[in-house]
Amino acid sequence: MGNPSVDLIDQSIWERGVPYEVFEHLRRSDPVYWHEEPDGPGFWALTLHEDVRNVSKDPTRFSSYAAGVSRLDVTDAVALAAYRSIVIAQDPPEHRLTRGIVSTIFTPRATSALEGPIRSLARSALDQALEKSEIDFVADYASLVPMHTISEMMGVPDDKRARLLELSGGLIDDQDPEVVASPEFRSNAQIEVFMTAQQLAARERETPGDNLTQILLTAEMEGRKLTEAEFNTFFMFLIIAGNETTRTAMSGGLATLLDHPDQLARLRKDPSLIPSAVEEMLRFWPPIHHFRRTAMCEVEMRGKTIREGDKVVMWYPSANRDESEFEDPNRFDIGRNPNHHLSFGYGEHFCLGASLARLELRVMFEELLTSTAEIVPLAPARRLRSNLINGIKEMRVELRPA
Ligand code: HEM
Repeated sequence: MGNPSVDLIDQSIWERGVPYEVFEHLRRSDPVYWHEEPDGPGFWALTLHEDVRNVSKDPTRFSSYAAGVSRLDVTDAVALAAYRSIVIAQDPPEHRLTRGIVSTIFTPRATSALEGPIRSLARSALDQALEKSEIDFVADYASLVPMHTISEMMGVPDDKRARLLELSGGLIDDQDPEVVASPEFRSNAQIEVFMTAQQLAARERETPGDNLTQILLTAEMEGRKLTEAEFNTFFMFLIIAGNETTRTAMSGGLATLLDHPDQLARLRKDPSLIPSAVEEMLRFWPPIHHFRRTAMCEVEMRGKTIREGDKVVMWYPSANRDESEFEDPNRFDIGRNPNHHLSFGYGEHFCLGASLARLELRVMFEELLTSTAEIVPLAPARRLRSNLINGIKEMRVELRPA
C-alpha cells in the first residue's frame, strides 16, 4: 500500500466512502496523528482501539464538558451553556447525576418491554413496503421504526413525528446541502424543535404522562429543575440520538449484508445469528464516525505530547478495524466472537441507548428476513456527505415476499 494523503475533514471523501485505507495507514505509521484544520487550530486523530478506549474512560484528563464532543467548538456562550446541560457534554460528577435521570428508561430490562410494540411497527412498515414494487429502504423501513419508538417513549404525538425526524436529520447532517438547503435551516430547525418541545411540555404539565418528556420536566438535579433552555436541548438531543443512529445502523447493516451475499445467505439459514450479525454490522458500518474530547492537562501518548486544551478526535471506523484487536478486521463475519467494537463508544459515556438500538435492530432484521425471500438492490446506496454520520440518504431495493 502506498501512503494515501490524510484528510479526514473533506466531506466529499466521506460521501464516496469511509477512507479505510487512510486509517490503516495512520494506524501503522502515526496512530496519534496531528491533523491540521482549515476551520480550527487542528486536532489529534486517534485511530487505535486501545487509545480510543483509554481516552473514553478517562474523563478527568479528556473532557466532554470543556468544549463538547463535536470537532468544531461551540463558540456562542448561550449555546455552549445549553449544550453542556446534555449528558453527552458533561464530565463527572455532574455527568453521572444527569445520566441517572434518564438511565432507568434505557436499561435492558426496561427496553425489553418495548419488543412487542417494535415488532408491530416493523411488521406494519413491511406490510406496506411489500405492496410496492420498489422502495427506498431508508425512508420506508429503516427510519420508521426508530422514529415511532423514540417518539412513543417521549410522548410525541403522531402528527409531529415525521417533521421531527426531518428536523433532526437537518440538525446533525448539516454538512450535506441536499439535507440542509440553506444556512438558516439549522437555526430555524432548532427553533422549531424547541417550540415542539415547549408544546409537549405544556401538555405534560396539564396531563402528566408516563414518558421521557415528563421525566425531563420533573427531574431535579442538585435541588433544581432543568431550565427551559436545558430542557429544550436535552429533548432535541434525545430525538436526534433516537432517530439518526439506529436508522443509519439499519440501512448500513443491510447495505453490508447485500455486499456480502454469502453472509446474508448464512443469516437466512440460521436466524439465531442475528444478534451477533447486528454487532458485526455495527463494527463494519459504525453509524458515528467520531466524537471529540478536550485534553485537560499535558498527556504523553505514543511519543506525542498532547497539550492542555488540545482537541482529541476518536475515529470509531478505524478502531473497529484495528488489526491488534480484531482478527482479519476487513472480513465481514456475522458469527464474529468476541466482537468488542466501539460503535457505541466506551466507558464513561457508553451509549445509553445501546440496549434499545440493539433490540430495534434485532427485531427489524428478524422481521425483514422472515417476510422476504429476497432483497434486490436496484441502485447504489446514496451516501450522506458527512464525516460525522455514516448515513445513507437513499437505498432503492425490491423486497420479494417470502
Ligand atoms: C446504533 C445506534 C446508536 C449508536 C451507534 C450510538 C452511538 C453512541 C456513541 C458512540 C455514544 C458515545 C458518545 C461519547 O463517548 O461521547 C453515544 C452516547 C449516547 N447515546 Fe447513542 N447511539 C445509538 C443509539 C442511541 C439511541 C437509540 C439512543 C436513545 C435515545 C441513544 C442515546 C445516547 C445517549 C443519551 C448518549 C450519551 C450517554 C452519556 O453521555 O453518558 N443512542 N451513542
